[in-house]
Amino acid sequence: MQPNNDTRSGRDTYRKHVWLRVLIVILLVGWMPATFAAWQTLGAVTQVTARADSVELSTRSGAHVRISFVSQDVLRIRMNPHGVFAADFSYALVHATPALIALKIDADTSGELLTIHTAGGDGLHVIVHKQPSLLIDVTDAQGNLIVSDDPARPMAFDTQNGAVETSKLRAAAELYYGFGEKALPLSRHQQYMTMWNSDTPRYAAGLDPLYQDIPFFVALHDGKSYGVFFDNTWRSYFDMGKTDPARYSFGAGGGELNYYVFAGGAERSPANVLRDYSELTGRGELPPLWALGYQQSRYSYTPQARVEEVARTFRAKKIPADVIYLDIDYMQGFRVFSWSERDFPAPEKMLRELHEEGFHAVTIIDPGVKLDDQYPVYRSGREQNVFTRNAAGEELHATVWPGQCAFPDFTDPHARQWWGGWYAKALQQGVDGFWNDMNEPATFPAPDSNQPILAHDAGKTFPLDARHAGDGQPGDHARYHNVYGMQMARATFEGLRTLQPQHRPLVLTRAGYAGVQRYAAVWTGDNVASWEHLALTIPMLTNLSISGVPFVGADVGGFVGSPSAELYARWLQAAVLTPFLRTHAEIGSNDREPWSYGQDFERINRATIELRYQLLPYLYTLFAQHAASGEALLRPLWFAYPRDVKTYLLDDQYLLGRDLLIAPVLHAGDIKREVYFPQGDAWRDWWSGQYYAGGSTVKIDAPIDRLPLFVRVGAIVPSQPVVQHTGEMSHTALILNVALGADGTSEIYQDAGDGYAYRSGDSRTTKISLHGDFLRLQIPHGTDFQRIATVEFIGLDATPARITADGKILHEVSFDKPTRRLRITLPAGSVDELALQR
Ligand code: GLC
Repeated sequence: MQPNNDTRSGRDTYRKHVWLRVLIVILLVGWMPATFAAWQTLGAVTQVTARADSVELSTRSGAHVRISFVSQDVLRIRMNPHGVFAADFSYALVHATPALIALKIDADTSGELLTIHTAGGDGLHVIVHKQPSLLIDVTDAQGNLIVSDDPARPMAFDTQNGAVETSKLRAAAELYYGFGEKALPLSRHQQYMTMWNSDTPRYAAGLDPLYQDIPFFVALHDGKSYGVFFDNTWRSYFDMGKTDPARYSFGAGGGELNYYVFAGGAERSPANVLRDYSELTGRGELPPLWALGYQQSRYSYTPQARVEEVARTFRAKKIPADVIYLDIDYMQGFRVFSWSERDFPAPEKMLRELHEEGFHAVTIIDPGVKLDDQYPVYRSGREQNVFTRNAAGEELHATVWPGQCAFPDFTDPHARQWWGGWYAKALQQGVDGFWNDMNEPATFPAPDSNQPILAHDAGKTFPLDARHAGDGQPGDHARYHNVYGMQMARATFEGLRTLQPQHRPLVLTRAGYAGVQRYAAVWTGDNVASWEHLALTIPMLTNLSISGVPFVGADVGGFVGSPSAELYARWLQAAVLTPFLRTHAEIGSNDREPWSYGQDFERINRATIELRYQLLPYLYTLFAQHAASGEALLRPLWFAYPRDVKTYLLDDQYLLGRDLLIAPVLHAGDIKREVYFPQGDAWRDWWSGQYYAGGSTVKIDAPIDRLPLFVRVGAIVPSQPVVQHTGEMSHTALILNVALGADGTSEIYQDAGDGYAYRSGDSRTTKISLHGDFLRLQIPHGTDFQRIATVEFIGLDATPARITADGKILHEVSFDKPTRRLRITLPAGSVDELALQR
C-alpha cells in the first residue's frame, strides 16, 4: 500500500517532533544550571592568611573561609562563596561585630593540616584539612572531637542561587534541642526543620515552621553538650539526620555560612553553652513585676463595660490577677494607636479604674497601618517615608485586619523611631504594656475560592523581592523576613524606654529571631484547646527557653476552640509555673475566665493561680539570675541532668529554675501519673513533704485539684502569702521553704519591681545556706524590701526537740504532720542562724 500524502506528512511531522524533542533536551540540559541547583564544594585551600585574631582560607572555588575565636569556648566560622566578606552585621548579636581573641596556627609537616587554637592554647581547637576539599574539625583541648565536617559532603554553595550549606558527621545517639519555637518532639534528632517565620493558626503537631525561628541548637551525646548558632536570616534549614542518620546539615537560601560553635566549657555542659550563646545574643532584662502576675485575655473583651466587669469579678471572687488584655476590637476599624469611639468611649477613665483595682492593661498593636488618607498614622508614615516598598519602589500594600495596609520597615532605624513615638498617647492614657502580633509579617492572601489557603502559602507574607533598609545594608524580604517581627518588638521596646524611662517595658511578640529576648516576651501563637496541644506546651516552651528566650508562655486553655472544665483546669496547672502566664481565647469561643466552669472549678483554678502568687519571689529571682548570666528559667530535665540518660527524651515534666520540678497531668481523666526523679538529687513533694530518691519513677496521686510539684532536697525556695496582685506584695513578708535532707545554698533577689534603680544598687540579694540542720542567712540591709518572716522546713517527721535562732530557743513554731512542715516565725530583728536539734 502506497503511503498517502497524509501519512507522509504525518511521518514528517513525527520526525520534526523528534528533532524538536532532542533540541528541547539539549536546551534544557544547557539551561538547567541556570534554574536548578548548581552546588559546588569549596575545593582545596590555596592560601592561608593569618591575622592576629582570624585566619582566612582561600579555596580553589574562589570561596573564602574565616575562622576566629570569640572566647576559648566559642568559635566563629564564616564562609563567603565570592571570597569577599560582607560587612559584619547581625540583628541577633548584642554587638554587631563580636569581639575576638588572639589565636595561633600550627601547621603539620606535610602541610596538609592546620591547627588553629587560642593564643593560650586552651579551649577549642580547629583542625583544617586543606585537601581535596576544605574540611573543618573542631575538638576540645584534649583532642576529643566536637564537630566534624562530613568528608562525603564538604561545605558547599550554589553558584546559581546563592544557597550555602555545611554537613557534619553525626554520632548515632546524638540528640538536638533548641531551634526556637517548634511543635516537634523534645529532641529534634532526625527532624528536618525550616526557619521561616509563618502565621500558622491552629497549627498541628509537626507543622513546621511556626511563628518564630531561632537557628540555634544544643547537642547532647554521652552526657556532653555543644551548641551551634547559624546566624543567617534568610530562609534556612536544619536536617538533623533525617535524610541520613549519619550526618546533619544546615544551610540557607542566601547570605554567608556564618556560624558559631559553643564548646560548653571544660565540662561541656548545656548550661555553659546557653550562657555563652546568651552572652553573644543578649539576655532578657528584668520585666516589671506586674508582668509576672496572672494575665487574662480574650479576642476580644469589648466593650469597655465588659473589661471593667471582668476585672471587678477577679477582685470580687478573690482570684489573683495583674493584667487584662485588649485585643483588636478596642480599635477604631482596627486602626493601630486608636480607640473605638463606640465601644471604648472613655479609655482614660477605664484605665484609671483598672489601676485603682491593681490591674495593668496591655493593648494589641499589629504592624499593618490602614491605608486611609484621613488617618494620621498612615499620613505621617507616608510623609516620613517609613513604609516598606515593593520591588518597583512603590509603597507595599497588603490586606490584614483593617483591610489594605502599609507596613513600616522595621529594619529602618528611622521607621523604628517613628513607630516607637506612636506609643506616647496610649502611655499617657494609661496603657501599661503592648502586644505586637501578626509580625511574621502576616498578610491575608487574595481570596481564591478554588484554592485552599495553606499554612505556608506564599501570599501570607510580603513578596520576597520587597525592599528593606536593613540598617544600612539594604536587602530584599528574602533576607530580612525572619527579623521583621523582632525589629518591630525592638521598635516598640526602644520607644517605650524613651517615652517612659522610669518604667520597665512589657512587650509581647509573636514573631522573633535569635536575640528577640532583648526586647520582648513571646507566646506560642494560635494553639488549640486540645489535650495534645497541652502536652505540646512542654517540649515547645522548654526548647524555646533553652534557645535563650526566658519569658515564654502558651495561651492557657488553647486559643482555638473551647476547652472543657477539666482541660482548662489542668492547663492552668501545667502553665502556672511558666514564666509568661496568660489565658487567651479566640473570638466566638466559650467564656474562659477562671470562674467560667462552675464553683468547684472556680475553687480549683483559684488555688492554682494562688500557687503562682505564692511562688513569685522565686520566679522573680530566676528572672534576675537570667538577666545576669543567661540562665534558663524553664528547663527540660536533660538540661539540668545531662548525665542521666532517662531524662533525654522526657517531655512531660519540666523544671522551673534549679529547684522546682513540675509534672502536670496531661491526659483527660487521669488522677495519677508517673513522675521520674532525675539522678543526682533527691526530691520532696511540695504538698506532702514525701521524699523521693533520684533515679526513681513513682506513680503519684494527682487529683483534679492538685498539680504534682516537687522541690529539690537541699533547696531553699522563697515564697509569700497569697496576694490579689503584685501591688500588694510590699505588704507581705517572705517565707523560706527549706527542703531538708541535703546541704545547699540559695539566693533571693529583691528590688522595687519596676524602674531601673536596681542598676544603681537599689536591690538586695540574700544568701542562704543549709548545712545539715543549720540554716545560715546573710541578709543585707535594706528596709524597703519584704522581710523574711517565716521559715518552713519541709520533710520532718516530728517537731524537733529544740529550735534555736542565734542560740536562743524559739517557741513560735508549729508542726503540720500531713505536710511534714515545721513552721517557724522568726523573731523581729535579724537572724543569722537557725538550728534544729532532733
Ligand atoms: C492572631 C493572634 C491572636 C489574636 C488574633 C486577633 O490570631 O495570634 O492571639 O487574638 O490574631 O488579634
